[in-house]
Order: sequence, then structure tokens, then C-alpha cells
Amino acid sequence: MILAIETSCDETSVAIMNFKGFLLSHITINQKNHKKFGGVVPEIASREHLQILQLIIPRALEKANISLNNIKLFSATCGPGLVGGLLVGSNFARSMAIGCKKTFYPINHLEGHLLSPLINNKKISFPYLALLLTGGHTQTYIVNNINSYELIGESVDDAVGEVFDKVAKILGLSYPGGALIEKRAKLGNSKKYNLPHPLEKDKTLNFSFSGIKTSVNIIIKKSIISENVVNNMSASFQNKIIDILVKKLDKTLNFINQRKINISDVVIVGGVASNKKIRYSLKKFCKKNKLNLLYPLNQFCSDNAAMIAWTCLQHYKNKIKPKLNFKVDPRWQLK
Ligand SMILES: Nc1ncnc2c1ncn2[C@@H]1O[C@H](COP(=O)(O)OP(=O)(O)OP(=O)(O)O)[C@@H](O)[C@H]1O
Ligand SMILES: [Mg+2]
Repeated sequence: MILAIETSCDETSVAIMNFKGFLLSHITINQKNHKKFGGVVPEIASREHLQILQLIIPRALEKANISLNNIKLFSATCGPGLVGGLLVGSNFARSMAIGCKKTFYPINHLEGHLLSPLINNKKISFPYLALLLTGGHTQTYIVNNINSYELIGESVDDAVGEVFDKVAKILGLSYPGGALIEKRAKLGNSKKYNLPHPLEKDKTLNFSFSGIKTSVNIIIKKSIISENVVNNMSASFQNKIIDILVKKLDKTLNFINQRKINISDVVIVGGVASNKKIRYSLKKFCKKNKLNLLYPLNQFCSDNAAMIAWTCLQHYKNKIKPKLNFKVDPRWQLK
């Protein structure tokens, strides 16, 4: 069995998975103490991780009906993320590994997200194209295989989840705002506001989102805010994000075709991948291009330890040696 810990931001999560990839227990606690600050406070997050892990590790073992001695591999997110949280989670897992004389696997959080749609899903085949849509990153990867990832595009400024949160803040919605914008967008007119499409004519596969946020800010400052304004702006903003994602996906697929890489699956991962309108629109586009669009179960979209356990299992099965002396790296990039 594998015990995995995820503490890179404001979710504290523990998973116990067997070597067949079956989850025996999975507990994710979303820290609520940041709401009043309108964003994650790193110091509070690390202190909360410390308190919550002490409660949920015994609970996860109990739920799985096993003891610590049954665990063969320990793993934790070691980056990228907030350094305090990474230190708490990884030191917890590493200490348990040392105490039980077992191996510790440091896992890259982004790799966890990239592999998350594979958890108990045999329908995805390598190589596949992955759009990583989170609060901290917007990146496009060709996932050639386990441990072989090629970054081909990324945001040059804000991440897509970050811009959802910032626009939500401008509209007076609470943090995190992504799901709230999705809800409000259902009630609004997506054609009401004309927002910019940054890097539309750019030849690279990169994204840019911060100009949209600025544009929303300028429009809202000039408006008298009402329920209608919030709904219409949410719909217009979400629509623009979808437009950008679809057009960039089109460009990316052309690039992949030119390189004669044969893919049949496109996956979207990360918190923003739980947005139903985004899923629906990208699915429609992929279908037109004879591709499958897949995404993780909702519980594996935002931060969770199941994807860390799963990644650890893939490393173990593929005989990828863990970097035993790896320290946490808040900016750990996938090479
Ligand atoms: N339904 C939704 N629509 C749009 N955005 C959403 C939705 N649900 C969640 N999000 C956004 O997803 C983000 C959180 O995702 P996730 O937990 O994957 O990011 P993160 O872990 O903070 O970033 P990273 O993985 O890059 O470190 C938040 O910005 C949140 O607003
Ligand atoms: Mg994440």
C-alpha cells in the first residue's frame, strides 16, 4: 500500500492506495480560514496542514482498516507550491517512512495533475495532450509516457484559475471564485460585454489572461454593480476563456500534426477542469476533430492526495528511482 500526502496550497489531503491503484481511503479537507482574507495566507495554511494531518492520517488508516506497518511506500508533494505547506506534508511523510523503515517518494504536484485522469481509467492512451488548468498554472504538455512530459505552451502572466478568482473578487464574489462564476454565468448574457482576446494573433502556443482581468476591472468601475451586471459579466468572461482555450487547442493540434505525433486523447486537468461549460465546449471541439476529451473525476480535479499516490505507484511500477535527498522546491518544474 501507498500513503500519500498533498499540502501544496490550501487543501490538506491524505490517500491510501493499494498496488492495483484502488483507493482504500481518501480524505481532503479544504481549509476555510482563508476566505476572509480573499486568498490563501501561507503561514495560516502551513499551521492548518500540521493540525489537520494529525487528525486525518489516523482516520485514513482506520477507514482503510490497516495499520501504518502495512504501508510500503510513503509519498508527498514536494513542489511546486507554498514552501511552508510543502515542508509540513513532506516532513510528515518522510518521517513516517524513516520510522517504518520504508521508502519515501517526493512527487511533483504538476505530474500528479497530469496523470490524474488515468486513475482507474484505462481508456486513455499515450501519448496524449494535456491542458493543465489550475489556480497556479496554465500549461500544455504532450504526455509521452510516465516520466516523459514535454511543455509546449503556458501562460505568460496569470493562470486561468487565478484570473477566475481575480474576476470573482472584482465582482464582489467570495474566494475561490471559479465555481461561483460558473454558477452566475448560467444566469447571464455572454454577449453583453466585449472582452479582449490576448495573444490571439501570437504564433506561439502561449496564453495570456491578465488583460481580460484589467478590462473587467475597467468596465465594472464604470458600472453600477447589480445582480444583472455580475451575471452578465460572469457569462461574458467565462465565454471569453472558453474561446481562448478552444482557439489555442486548435493551434496546438496543428502543431502536433506538423510534428506527426499521433494522439487520440486530449485531457483537461486541475481545478478549472471541473467547470462543466468548459468541459462541454472542449468536448464538442474535440469530437469535431475526431479526438476524445477526457477529464478526471471531480474529486481528482482540485488538489488531492489520490493523484500523488497514483503518481508514486506509476514511478514504482516503472522502476523510477525516488530522489531520496530531494528537498522541497516551491518552483519545481517538470522537465
Ligand atoms: N467550476 C469552476 N470553474 C472555473 N474555475 C474553477 C472551478 N472550480 C474551481 N476552479 C478554480 O480552480 C482553481 C483551483 O484549482 P487547483 O486546486 O487545481 O489549483 P492550485 O492547486 O491552486 O494550483 P497549482 O496546482 O498550479 O498549484 C481555483 O482558481 C478555482 O477558482
Ligand atoms: Mg493543484
